[in-house]
Amino acid sequence: MSELQTDVDLQPHNTLAVPARARFYARVTDAAQLPEWLEFAQANSLPLLLLGGGSNLVLREDFDGLVIHIGLHGREKISEDREHVWLKVAAGENWHKLVEYTLEHQYWGLENLSLIPGSVGAAPIQNIGAYGVELQDVFESLEALDLVTGERMQFDKDDCAFGYRDSLFKHEGRDRYLITSVTFKLFKQPHLKISYPSLREELKAIPVSELTPVEVSQAVCRIRRSKLPDPARIPNVGSFFKNPVIGLTQFLELQILHPGLVSYPVDARHVKVAAGWLIERAGWKGASRGPVAVHSEQALVLTNPGHAMGAEVLALAEEIRHSIASEYGIDLEPEPRVY
Ligand code: EPU
Repeated sequence: MSELQTDVDLQPHNTLAVPARARFYARVTDAAQLPEWLEFAQANSLPLLLLGGGSNLVLREDFDGLVIHIGLHGREKISEDREHVWLKVAAGENWHKLVEYTLEHQYWGLENLSLIPGSVGAAPIQNIGAYGVELQDVFESLEALDLVTGERMQFDKDDCAFGYRDSLFKHEGRDRYLITSVTFKLFKQPHLKISYPSLREELKAIPVSELTPVEVSQAVCRIRRSKLPDPARIPNVGSFFKNPVIGLTQFLELQILHPGLVSYPVDARHVKVAAGWLIERAGWKGASRGPVAVHSEQALVLTNPGHAMGAEVLALAEEIRHSIASEYGIDLEPEPRVY
C-alpha cells in the first residue's frame, strides 16, 4: 500500500491554486495498490476524489474524504499496421509530454492538442479539444476500474459516448470509474487539420504543401501562449464555461441584435456560440473581484493570482452567468468539475 497522508494541502495539486485541504491523501503509482485504497474509503465511509493534473477542478472547500492522486506511468506501442500506431498510455502521464513524445516518434494526430494542461487519464472525461481536434478523433479505448464492483473494465469509443466536452464519465459514469490507461490510434502519415480560423491565420506564411505536424504543434503552442495564461504562473483552469449550444431560432434573433456574434454550426437546428465573445461584449474582459479576475486576453478564462478560495472564484463565475443570462438569455454551463 502506498503511504497514507492526512490533512494535506491541495493547493499545489490544483492549477487554480485554491487553498483547500484533504482529510486523507494517497498517491498511487501502481494499479495494484488501488483495491486497498478503495476498501479503506469504503470501510470508513469516505467520499473519493480522483485527482489527475488538477487542471479542471474547483475545490469549493476542504475535502473531507480520501484523495487518490493518480500517479500511474508508462507508454507502450501495443500494435501497428501500415497506416496506424496504437499507443497505450498510463493515466498519470502528463498530457503535453505525451504530445511531445508522439511528435518525436512521428506518430501523428495529437499536434492540435499541444500544451493542454492535465493528465492523460483525465482527457477522455471531458473529451478535451482544441483547434479543430477532439480526443475522440484519436481515441481507441480505455481501461478503468469499476469503483462499485472492483472489476477491471475496457471501454471502446462508442461506450464512452463522447460529445463536446462531454462523455459517459460526466454522467452515468461519474464517480463510478477510475481510468487507468488510454489507448490512442495515431497516424504514421500526417493528416493535418488546420481549418480552425486562428490556426489557419497563424500558419498562413507557410504553403500548405510544406506544412508539417511539428509546425502545427508549434503554431498551436504560440496561439495558446498568447491567449491563455500559463497555470504555473497565473493560476487558472482554462475555459471556465463551455461554449453554449443554442437553438437556431434563438441564434437568428441574437444575430440581429449582435451581428458580430461568433458561432459554429452544430446541426440543422442548433448552433454553438463563442462564450468568450459573449462575456467580452458584456464588459467582463479584464474585470476583477478582489483577487479573482477575468483574463485580459481570453474572457472565457478566470484567473486566481491572489490564491483566493474556491468559493470566491465560483462567486465571480456566478455573477458572469447571471449577466450573460440577462443580456443574451443564454445559460452558461461551467466546464470544470466543482467539489
Ligand atoms: N472571443 C472573443 N473574446 C474573448 C475570447 C474569444 O471575442 O475574450 C472570440 C474569438 O475572437 C474567436 C472566438 O471567440 O472568434 C473563439 O475564441 P477561441 O479561438 O479563443 O476559442 P474559444 O471558443 O474561446 C475553445 C475552447 C478552448 C480551446 C479553443 C481553441 C471551450 C470551452 N474552449 O475556446 O479550450 O483552446 O476553443 O480550440 O470549448 C479549455 O477547454 O480549457 C480551452 C482552453
